[in-house]
Amino acid sequence: MINDNFVIKGDICYSKSLTDLECIKNGYLVCKDGVSEGVFEKLPAEYIDLALIDCSGMLVLPGMVDLHIHAPQFTFRGIGMNLELLDWLKTYTFPEEIKYKDPDYARVAYRDFVKKMKKSATTRAVVFSTIHRQSTEMLMEMLEESGLITYVGKVNMDREAPKALKENDAETSLEETVAWLSDISGKFPHTKPIITPRFLISCTDELLEGLGKVAREYDLPVQSHLSENPEEVKLVHELFPTASCYGDGYDMYGLFGKDVKTVMAHCVYSTDEEVDRILNNGVFVAHCPTSNMNLASGIAPIRKYLNLGIKVGIGTDIGAGESESMFRALCDAIQVSKLYSRLVDKAYKPLAFEEAFFLATMGGGEFFGKVGSFEKGYEFDAVVIDDFELSGLNDFPLRSRLERAVYLEADTMYLSKKFVKGREVKADYGNQYFD
Ligand code: GUN
Ligand code: FE
Repeated sequence: MINDNFVIKGDICYSKSLTDLECIKNGYLVCKDGVSEGVFEKLPAEYIDLALIDCSGMLVLPGMVDLHIHAPQFTFRGIGMNLELLDWLKTYTFPEEIKYKDPDYARVAYRDFVKKMKKSATTRAVVFSTIHRQSTEMLMEMLEESGLITYVGKVNMDREAPKALKENDAETSLEETVAWLSDISGKFPHTKPIITPRFLISCTDELLEGLGKVAREYDLPVQSHLSENPEEVKLVHELFPTASCYGDGYDMYGLFGKDVKTVMAHCVYSTDEEVDRILNNGVFVAHCPTSNMNLASGIAPIRKYLNLGIKVGIGTDIGAGESESMFRALCDAIQVSKLYSRLVDKAYKPLAFEEAFFLATMGGGEFFGKVGSFEKGYEFDAVVIDDFELSGLNDFPLRSRLERAVYLEADTMYLSKKFVKGREVKADYGNQYFD
């Protein structure tokens, strides 16, 4: 393993801002102590003695950041897409998640999930597990071993679920959460805990209040779901009659940004008040277009969020999203934005390729700090994609090669190398499906 200080030569593409995508053919990308020193057309003399990894002719990109994914749903991804959210949860998701009480089931299921994540272009992810402490810890151990950098949340649920997927009461759920935090304390340098109320519907006020306290006391971030589906939003208002908007139900318990770093998935039906709150509290939006299509949830108005300056990243939302490919999710973000612009509101321009690429890298990367770019000072997460087979007879410009690689989901077939914070993640990349 080459560690920490090295140079990669190749065809390098990375975002500098939402609209500025840099593409440098035959460039040099320098990693020192796990951090990018920048990209150069000619290698500066000071780096000449560093080990050179020659990836000439290949795409060198920042690693993808999956801002929202459910590890236990990997097992049944791709079925049940005839249903909308609440029925899908009841029919497919909850029965599957119940199985993770059994460590033997969890061990095999999470092994397959982590293997797939390792072979993907994702370098960072924000992950849901289930309510189960033991299997959550097992997942964290496997993710730590994988070399990826992640946040993982033991899920909290104390109502509106089958008995087997409901913690007895708020107190039990909070005790389990604190026991989990104590079990993993100091154990996993790259796999951090995140407070995870599943969504407002599955948490009582008492549980939310307690989770807000835990988040503050342990200085932990928060993840959950927000305004995904019309029936869900309706039920939230029945269960939380005093909440002025869905987000207010989290905010009243300190689970919605401000001092607590927070990411909320979906935000398809956020009202003006909620959008203001997302912006003012600095909440990240995890846009999950594949999931939103599959569950017929709707289309999140991402252009509106970007115009306002809201922080947005992209999530695959496995298993409502069927693929772990962030290229696929990135592409879906562009495609649904085109439908939104055509069918819903022409005032909102579709996302340009550059913008979606930014969201999948720098946008979500900000949740982890200086992550998602090769600009000097960013943590060194990189993937190398050998797109030779895609080029065919055409000598496409680099920017077009990148666009094609993303549209053709080259991350699922042609990944060649992966680095996370300067450490190489070794895997049998050439063999994506058969081992
Ligand atoms: N809302 C609450 N739980 C879930 C889940 O597992 N998936 C999605 N897409 N939405 C949710
Ligand atoms: Fe989700």
